[in-house]
Amino acid sequence: MIYKSLAKPLLFKKNAESAHELAVKISNITSSSSLLQALTNTIYGYKNSKLHRDFFGLRFPNPVGLAAGFDKNGESPLAMQALGFGFVEVGSITARPSQGNPKPRAFRLPTDHSLINRMGLNNEGAEAVVRRLSSLNLEIPLGVNIAKTNDASIHGDAAIQDYLTSYELANTVADYITVNISCPNTGEGKTFEDPDALEALLKGLNIGAVNLKPTLVKFSVDTDQKTLETLVEICERYAIAGYIATNTSSSRANLKTPLPTLEQIGNGGLSGRAIAEKSTQVIGWLKGMLKGNKPIIGVGGIDSEESALTKLEAGADLLQIYTGLVYEGPGLVKRIKQKIAFD
Ligand SMILES: Cc1cc2nc3c(=O)[nH]c(=O)nc-3n(C[C@H](O)[C@H](O)[C@H](O)COP(=O)(O)O)c2cc1C
Repeated sequence: MIYKSLAKPLLFKKNAESAHELAVKISNITSSSSLLQALTNTIYGYKNSKLHRDFFGLRFPNPVGLAAGFDKNGESPLAMQALGFGFVEVGSITARPSQGNPKPRAFRLPTDHSLINRMGLNNEGAEAVVRRLSSLNLEIPLGVNIAKTNDASIHGDAAIQDYLTSYELANTVADYITVNISCPNTGEGKTFEDPDALEALLKGLNIGAVNLKPTLVKFSVDTDQKTLETLVEICERYAIAGYIATNTSSSRANLKTPLPTLEQIGNGGLSGRAIAEKSTQVIGWLKGMLKGNKPIIGVGGIDSEESALTKLEAGADLLQIYTGLVYEGPGLVKRIKQKIAFD
């Protein structure tokens, strides 16, 4: 209510990235004050033991998490906890700091309840982010999402070494780690969803070795069923603890936004309602392949109680949200939790 009538009209007057920066700033202020956290939690919090979930050795107070990309630098996990999220995923972080792609690089598609972004993995670098996270006193599980530094000159063994640097650092602070193999916004325009590249990466990370945190793999929404099968087969040889489906899409099919607007925006990953159905389909494929043996985090276009339930029905065990927050505000998290608890 407060968000839609007050905050959203103000935020939507700004361009998408400035609005996001303001939201992060407000979250930062909230994170640094226990009074503001308590106040936020009074408005947005909702607890119910029916919402507790246990996966990969972690207790989630509820299944609704913040998706990667909102808090790339690990500045606001405490604010997200106060907003009632059951877990938060920071990042993607990369071994080297990166400015990302030139601005503008984030765009709203209001008629489609969607966003297009080509942020290009901007972040302060794994070391700085992990240092910040190391002093955090968080009650909900913390995920750290890692990706390769956005620099096309880093490839082959150097690319794996780059991931490994972030992986080892993330292991010191994270409750779980997500290997992002599906960012569409890299300089080389290629992801680790190539089977040989994925195999080499997982081998290089030595996943499953003692003392390493549960490690998840995040897939693109554009992955076809056959490729997904191949990728899952590879992952299953490397003690992957679970999967995240899905990242954003490079496709522009079935959008209501006029073509000239889309052409003007250009490249980037599509998120939000426009990818909801496709993301649900990928979750369903994964569920069929894994037969309930590994948890799936469902993400992509959750912007209502119903779309959250659809993801759970398709096979998701936990949920994540990003774009839905932009259009619906943080009250969405509470509404979804209440719906799940009483459904
Ligand atoms: C602006 C923006 C930045 C993102 N950055 C990342 C990222 O750094 N790493 C990642 O794994 N996913 C990233 N994502 C993808 C989201 O985590 C999520 O998978 C995707 O947006 C689909 O969920 P949604 O429809 O709820 O937004 C980003 C999404 C947006 C909109």
